[in-house]
Amino acid sequence: MTTVRLNSADPVSFDTDALIVGFRSGPEGPRPAKGAESLDAAFGGRLAASLTAIGFSGKPGELAKVPVFGALAAPLLVAVGLGDSADAEALRRAAGAAVRSLAGTARAALVLPTESAEEAEAVALGALLGAYGFSRYRTNGESKEPVGDLTVLSSDGSDEIAGRATVLAESVTLVRDLVNTPPSDLWPAKFAEIAEQRGGEAGLTVEVLDDKQLKDGGYGGLIGVGQGSANPPRLVRLSYSHPEATKTLAFVGKGITFDSGGLSLKPSASMDWMKSDMGGAGAVLGALIGIARLAPQVNVVGYLCLAENLPSGTAQRPSDVIHSYSGKTVEVLDTDAEGRLVLMDGIARAAEDSPDLIVDVATLTGAQIVALGWRTAGVMANDDAVRELVVEVAGAAGEGAWGMPLPEELRKGLDSPIADIANLQPERWGSMLAAGIFLKEFVPDGVRWAHIDMAGPAFNKGEPHGYTPKGGTGAITRTLIGLAERHASI
Ligand code: BES
Ligand code: MN
Ligand code: ZN
Repeated sequence: MTTVRLNSADPVSFDTDALIVGFRSGPEGPRPAKGAESLDAAFGGRLAASLTAIGFSGKPGELAKVPVFGALAAPLLVAVGLGDSADAEALRRAAGAAVRSLAGTARAALVLPTESAEEAEAVALGALLGAYGFSRYRTNGESKEPVGDLTVLSSDGSDEIAGRATVLAESVTLVRDLVNTPPSDLWPAKFAEIAEQRGGEAGLTVEVLDDKQLKDGGYGGLIGVGQGSANPPRLVRLSYSHPEATKTLAFVGKGITFDSGGLSLKPSASMDWMKSDMGGAGAVLGALIGIARLAPQVNVVGYLCLAENLPSGTAQRPSDVIHSYSGKTVEVLDTDAEGRLVLMDGIARAAEDSPDLIVDVATLTGAQIVALGWRTAGVMANDDAVRELVVEVAGAAGEGAWGMPLPEELRKGLDSPIADIANLQPERWGSMLAAGIFLKEFVPDGVRWAHIDMAGPAFNKGEPHGYTPKGGTGAITRTLIGLAERHASI
């Protein structure tokens, strides 16, 4: 595991293997950012001109590795672009991209412009998140080890800031690892075991309902979705409480450890990355662990709705009717619309904890990706202020999210000829919103609720960028932690 420290030493004489230095872009070319003055002086004020000569302009994400010819204690300087405005997210991204480019290097130090403890934390966090690697399944030694030892050279931080960044990064790392783990090694009971172990270590109370308890308890959605697999479903409840808390939040995560579509089978091309369909449950687990470690004055319960969606002789069929935990009946018109079936039970169960707010997180619809692309989650809610709060908290964390409506007229498309509701609307238009409308039916009156559809953001099929690696991203984990902190009494 990579570690980070803060230090206010002079970068020129700092002993490390690589010095990462931030540059702003401007009409006159790249300018060394605040904190890099002594470095520029060590190069006789010619650093910016030399970088311009090799084509470096300082635009966001741009990287240039330059030898230092003995001018610094470090043998390598990595210039990273910040663009012309450097908010916290620009700092996280620059730190992450630079650290990622140094995989195989033991130690690195960062000189990025910080004005506050929050910005020092952003640099530390971006650096840690950029140092992620997943090499568990490689035997050929081709994976380079991430940087092991990071130092943020800044006078704005403290050990506490490094500690916070470490907690946040470890939560996100756990989620990325879970998402990247192949479904042959992560099935519902295994996920529940990991939640018990890791949650227990963090001081959470963890309860697991197995398939028999789910059947006896009336969790028809979890049972229906899970019944086609030899790996039966689980519902995990994690709880964190603070003795002086005045508010309770409930987080509910979609945890489909593999989504084949069930009998409504997906084509192969859309199936190979469906190991990521437990990203919502991952985010809830990662967030609860992070919250327990940061200990804000609030109560939080987390539900992981775990099932594997496979076709078999025991699988649920299109046209089956299931009895949900809420008591409502649901006609399953498409077994690939399974996320809402496990979430409806999780949401109804979470409401029994009398939370002030329920937030569910799910890789729910392909339509989210159609509407908002890979990096922006859709946020829906039964209350405008709640929706705006979630979008704002996500924005502060640098996690893309955008408010979406829940148009009432879509409810009619979910009418079933025989049950209380159907799990699919006949047309594809507005499917992200229709899924939200479906879930809303399972939120009791008077309970504030938000739904985050992160089908795209949970998994990066493209190239790494900023602090985001290929594969599992850990998206929305930090948003949930931020929501808990926003609801803390002090
Ligand atoms: N897990 C998928 C949604 C998904 C798609 C996540 C792409 C990540 C990337 C979900 O269970 C699903 O299959 N949704 C269907 C719903 C449809 C049948 C109403 C979809 O979006 O096509
Ligand atoms: Mn599906
Ligand atoms: Zn799914």
